[in-house]
Amino acid sequence: MTSDEAGRLRGRRVLVTGAARGIGYAIAEAALEAGAAVAILDRDESALAEAAGALGEKGHGAVATAVADVSSYEALAAAKEELEGGFGIVDTLVNNAGIAYNAPGEEMSVAEWDRMIQINLSGVFYCTQLFAAPMLAAGRGAVVSIASMSGLIVNRPQPQAAYNVAKAGVIMLTKSLAAEWAPRGVRVNAVAPGYINTSLIQRFVGSDTMRDYWVGGTPLGRIGEPAEVAAAVVFLASDAASFVTGETLVADGGYSLW
Ligand SMILES: NC(=O)c1ccc[n+]([C@@H]2O[C@H](COP(=O)([O-])OP(=O)(O)OC[C@H]3O[C@@H](n4cnc5c(N)ncnc54)[C@H](O)[C@@H]3O)[C@@H](O)[C@H]2O)c1
Repeated sequence: MTSDEAGRLRGRRVLVTGAARGIGYAIAEAALEAGAAVAILDRDESALAEAAGALGEKGHGAVATAVADVSSYEALAAAKEELEGGFGIVDTLVNNAGIAYNAPGEEMSVAEWDRMIQINLSGVFYCTQLFAAPMLAAGRGAVVSIASMSGLIVNRPQPQAAYNVAKAGVIMLTKSLAAEWAPRGVRVNAVAPGYINTSLIQRFVGSDTMRDYWVGGTPLGRIGEPAEVAAAVVFLASDAASFVTGETLVADGGYSLW
């Protein structure tokens, strides 16, 4: 992080969902480095505690935690109440929690379809509605959701219709809420990552799929790192993006160009 970027989120209270590992963890770390107070939420309680410990050890002070599954409105409402009692009112929300699942359209079960939409799309709406309420009341706030390039293009070779649809939904939800809330001081944006080096894609490491399709299809010629997504999130959340709303910033090494 350059000296220009340090302090970009000073004074902010940032909540990152799905931050026990991967991209969410990197976003929490980048937000701390940018001067924010940070809370992390995840459904995996032990990984969450470990992540909070690891972030705390980096010398940025304590990180607040909340355990919840983003597919449960009730669990999120309880987590919000708990955070507001200790951490304080969130003014910057990062919707990052998500799952990936591949299945051919003709074989995907209704339960698998529903679960994907529930976590990757409804979860984003639930968190945003709950945590944006105080932002709207205060006339100030920022929401950044992690969509995917899969919300803009159909990736190859994996069949993932439900994932693609959920992420396309996140992009349109971002535009819709940005338009509704712009006059009330709340900006809503998204980041659409390409293939990023996390546990989500670990099982493909070294495979023909990764070499031929994913790396081979990326003009920059490599998989991205979580910190490269986090940098885009910090930009959109910060006042450096004060005239940016409803935007989806694609961070995919150029994959969606070809
Ligand atoms: N890794 C990639 O290539 C890639 C590309 C584009 C978009 N994304 C998106 O980035 C986000 C993070 O992905 P990642 O690669 O870091 O994944 P990951 O699996 O490494 O981490 C996801 C985190 O979210 C948590 N989580 C999952 N479902 C949850 C739920 N229902 N409630 C609360 N927490 C939940 C997990 O416990 C985990 O800590 C996801 O939304 C994913 O779709 C990832």
